[in-house]
Amino acid sequence: MTHLSQKLENLFPAEDQIPEEYRIEELHQREYLIDGRMRQWDGPTQEVVSPVYVRQADGSLVRKVIGSYPLPGNDDAGLEALDAAVRAFDNGRGEWPTMSVADRIACMERFVGRMVERKKEIVNLLMWEIGKTLGDSTKEFDRTVQYIYDTIDALKDIDRAGSRFRIEEGIIGQIRRSPLGVVLCMGPFNYPLNETYTTLIPAILMGNTVLFKPPKHGTLLHYPLLEAFRSSFPKGVVNTVYGRGATVVPTLMKSGKVNVLALIGSSRVADSLKKMHPKSNRLRAILSLDAKNAAVVLSDADIELTVKECLLGTMSFNGQRCTALKILWVHRSIAHRFLERFGEELNKLKPGLPWDKGAQVTPLPEPGKPAYLDECLRDAEAKGAKVLNEGGGTTFESFVFPALVYPVKDGMKLYREEQFGPVIPVVPFDDIEEPIEYIIRSDHGQQVSVFGKNTDRIAHLIDPLVNQVSRVNINAQCQRGPDTFPFTGRKDSAEGTLSVEDALRSFSIRTVVATKETDANKDILNHIIEEHKSQFISTKFIF
Ligand code: G3H
Repeated sequence: MTHLSQKLENLFPAEDQIPEEYRIEELHQREYLIDGRMRQWDGPTQEVVSPVYVRQADGSLVRKVIGSYPLPGNDDAGLEALDAAVRAFDNGRGEWPTMSVADRIACMERFVGRMVERKKEIVNLLMWEIGKTLGDSTKEFDRTVQYIYDTIDALKDIDRAGSRFRIEEGIIGQIRRSPLGVVLCMGPFNYPLNETYTTLIPAILMGNTVLFKPPKHGTLLHYPLLEAFRSSFPKGVVNTVYGRGATVVPTLMKSGKVNVLALIGSSRVADSLKKMHPKSNRLRAILSLDAKNAAVVLSDADIELTVKECLLGTMSFNGQRCTALKILWVHRSIAHRFLERFGEELNKLKPGLPWDKGAQVTPLPEPGKPAYLDECLRDAEAKGAKVLNEGGGTTFESFVFPALVYPVKDGMKLYREEQFGPVIPVVPFDDIEEPIEYIIRSDHGQQVSVFGKNTDRIAHLIDPLVNQVSRVNINAQCQRGPDTFPFTGRKDSAEGTLSVEDALRSFSIRTVVATKETDANKDILNHIIEEHKSQFISTKFIF
């Protein structure tokens, strides 16, 4: 066992070495939310184990069991939830889709107030379930709460714009956004709270009813919020679905009753689920999928700034972000200097447990990930690359110390596969056409980062790249935020756009009520408005 591997092993604590405030009581979820009721579950369950191992009295290490949740085994386990969502929408006639925007906002404000009360518990579960650091888990929670408040504000703006009539060519019209129906929301393990809620919240606010399937890792942290959903919204607006995705989701899609598929996950899964819907034109898909974002480091790049940004881009949450930089193209003339500085900074990253002060490399939640990353490294080495940083790739159970791999080339797994972990492939280039050609031929098209100083060269790159990806970052890592910026991608990376405002649009459709400009019709409209007879035909203004 190497020195580093021993160091990683020693990081795993005995129970009494875990700081008291972060210790966890096993949480065995035996309830699920359907049709406004918390139902009792007495069927099979899925045990939840943490990526954190705990030292036993005999010195052995065991993945800490943190709880369990319902795991129905039958294909039709989601149908009860689907029926409840369909009933609550009631072809657009249900209480929720016909409720005024102001009243829907009041329900959401009630929910977010209750959510904030559970912060400590949820942040702790984020650390234990997916190994995210205390700082990042707290940020994920706070960012999600802020996202909800910002979404409420954006909805008020949309509603204000819709509270007036337009008169054109002798036609009077009122234009508002209406809900789409039943939305199936599925989020990823790496941002199990934030990314799930960036679809769930706008979907609910726009008047849809939802089926909510928590991710495989990061399930228990949703449990404390089910009661808040139950008590904040009318029955059937939020319904939970448990069970293996491959088992329960196909039945939901094949029913033809899902109107919107909101999935943050893999393009392969999204592709197959969309095809299962019997009426493809009735299905809207809002997808945020795979990515292999590249950094292109030009010969005149500021090395210190580039190293700093690339380190953040490749290594935040151990590289487990869809927006992570997953391949670095570096001009050959500065490759040596860049790699030397990058390697030095990489090796300063501190491995630790999620709650340890300053921890930057934490245990990985996917059980098969360390073996997969090792396979990528062996493949690259067999084809001529080397791990440059001392100890890079050293693995102990769920800990993988980051590896800087150079020179990576076409034919290696790391060249095209989305590693989604702490392995950093670097490709040298002589001609700028090489990284451009790589991006053009990629199946992905989310973002790119360009590092350099020469404005001619940067401008020359921006124009082809904006037609290949959806965000070009200059001298900065790739990232989703600020959440008011459009977040999307081309090719297999996304469908639809998610940002605070765009998401509200994605989960709704513009609808018009129109009439010819005659005195009789004007009387009808005035009467409806004055008597407050309709939620749609209304000039009420939300302040
Ligand atoms: O996993 C994808 C996340 O949306 C990335 O968000 O760029 O703010 O870390 P972020």
